[in-house]
Amino acid sequence: MEKFIVKGGRPLTGEVAVSGAKNAVVAILCAALLVEDEIILENVPDISDVWVLTDMIEALGGDVTRISSGTYKIDCRNLSTYVADVEKCKKMRASYYLIGSLLGRFHKACVPLPGGCNFGTRPIDQHIKGFQSLGCSIDIRNGVIEADGEELHGGQVYLDVASVGATINIMLAAVFAPGNTVLENAAKEPHVVDVANFLNSMGANIRGAGTDVIKIKGVKNLHGGTYTVIPDQIEAGTYMIAAAATRGDVVIKNVIPKHMDVLSAKMVEMGIEVWEGDDEIRVVANKSLSRVNVKTLPYPGFPTDLQPQMVALLTTVDGTSIVTESVWDNRFQYIGELEKMGCRITVDGRVAVVEGGTHLQGAQIKATDLRAGACMVIAALCAEGESEISDIRHVDRGYERIVEKLSALGADIKRTND
Ligand code: EPU
Repeated sequence: MEKFIVKGGRPLTGEVAVSGAKNAVVAILCAALLVEDEIILENVPDISDVWVLTDMIEALGGDVTRISSGTYKIDCRNLSTYVADVEKCKKMRASYYLIGSLLGRFHKACVPLPGGCNFGTRPIDQHIKGFQSLGCSIDIRNGVIEADGEELHGGQVYLDVASVGATINIMLAAVFAPGNTVLENAAKEPHVVDVANFLNSMGANIRGAGTDVIKIKGVKNLHGGTYTVIPDQIEAGTYMIAAAATRGDVVIKNVIPKHMDVLSAKMVEMGIEVWEGDDEIRVVANKSLSRVNVKTLPYPGFPTDLQPQMVALLTTVDGTSIVTESVWDNRFQYIGELEKMGCRITVDGRVAVVEGGTHLQGAQIKATDLRAGACMVIAALCAEGESEISDIRHVDRGYERIVEKLSALGADIKRTND
C-alpha cells in the first residue's frame, strides 16, 4: 500500500502551477458522450478519477487517446451501449453523470448507483426529479438506475437544493431534449459554468450557467472541437492554505483569482497577505495570524471541499475558531486523525470547535477521503517530526503530482510503497 512520508517544519516557498479542474473534467468527459465527432480536450489533470472515467468511456465503445501530457482526443462516434460497468461506477461519484449523457445520447441509461467519498448520505433525488421533469421514467433495481427517455422533452425543474451534480446532470440530459428546459435554483460553481461552456462550444444552446436560472434549448446534434478545462479551484485553494499553514511564501500560477475570492478574503481576515495577478495569486504568511470562523456554503460561499484543509490551518493559529459544515452532514470524519497529531478539536454535528495554537506532532495518520487527505498532508507539513499518511489513493483521485509539486516548494515529502 502506498503512503506519503512527510517531515514537517519547512515553510513552502516558490511557485506551483495548478492543474485542470477535477470536478469540471469528470463532467466534461461524460458530456463528451453526447458528441458524435472528434474532441480535443486540453488541461486534463493526470489523476485517477480521469483514468477511471476514460476506462468507462472506452467500455461504452468510445475511443480515448492521450496525445500528450494533459491533452486527450475523444471520439464517441462508435458508442455501442447505454449500460455502464458496475465495478467502475462504484469507484467514483461522478459516474452519475453517465445517466444524463447516456439519456441524451441513447434516450436510455443503465448506470449503477455511484461510489465516491463517504461523508454521510449522498442522495440523488434531485437528479431523478429533474430527469422525470424531462419526461423520463426512472427505476432503481438491485442498485442500478434504469432510465428510459423515449419521451425526452424540455421541462421546468426547480431544485430543492442547489446541487452541483443535479444541475450538470439535468443540463446533459436536456441538451438534445426538444423544446426549452428551465432549471431553477441551479448550482453556480465554476465547474457548472465550465461544462456549459464546453457544451456550447460544441453547438449546445445553454444560457445562464453561473446564475441560479439555467435555460437550455434542445439542439439536434453537437459537433467536435477543442476545449481547455478551467484550473482547479480546490487544488489552488489547497496550495494557498498549505503556503499559509507552513508560514511560507508561494505564488500559485494558472488560477482564476475570481474563483478564489472567498478564500482570499478569509485569509486576509486572518492577517495573511494575498496578492492577485491576472492568473496567479501570491500568499505570504510571515506574521502572527488571527483565528476566524468559517461556514461552508454553495458557491460563491466558502467551498466545503476546502473545509478540511482550512481546519488544518486553523490548528496552527492562536485562539478558537468555529467551523460550520453546511453542505455535507458528516464531513468531519478526519478530525480523529488530526487528534493523533495533538490537535484539540471538538465536533458537535456539523460544527467543529478548533482550539488553535497547536504544536503539531508527526504521527501515523490516514486519508479518510480526498480532501481529508489534503488536510493530512498540510498538517504533516506543519508538524514537528515525521508523519506517515496511509490510504493516499484518495489523494491521487484529485491531486496531480502532489509529491512533485510540494517538493518543488521545498517540502520534505516522498511516496513509498510498502
Ligand atoms: N443533495 C440532495 N439531493 C441530490 C443531490 C444533492 O439532497 O439529489 C444534497 C447533498 O446531500 C448535499 C448537497 O445537496 O448535502 C450538495 O450536493 P451536490 O449534489 O452539490 O454534491 P455533488 O454534486 O455530489 C460535488 C462535488 C463534491 C463537492 C460538492 C459540493 C463533483 C464530482 N463532486 O458533489 O466534490 O463537495 O459538489 O460542492 O463535482 C470533492 O471534490 O472532494 C468533492 C466531494
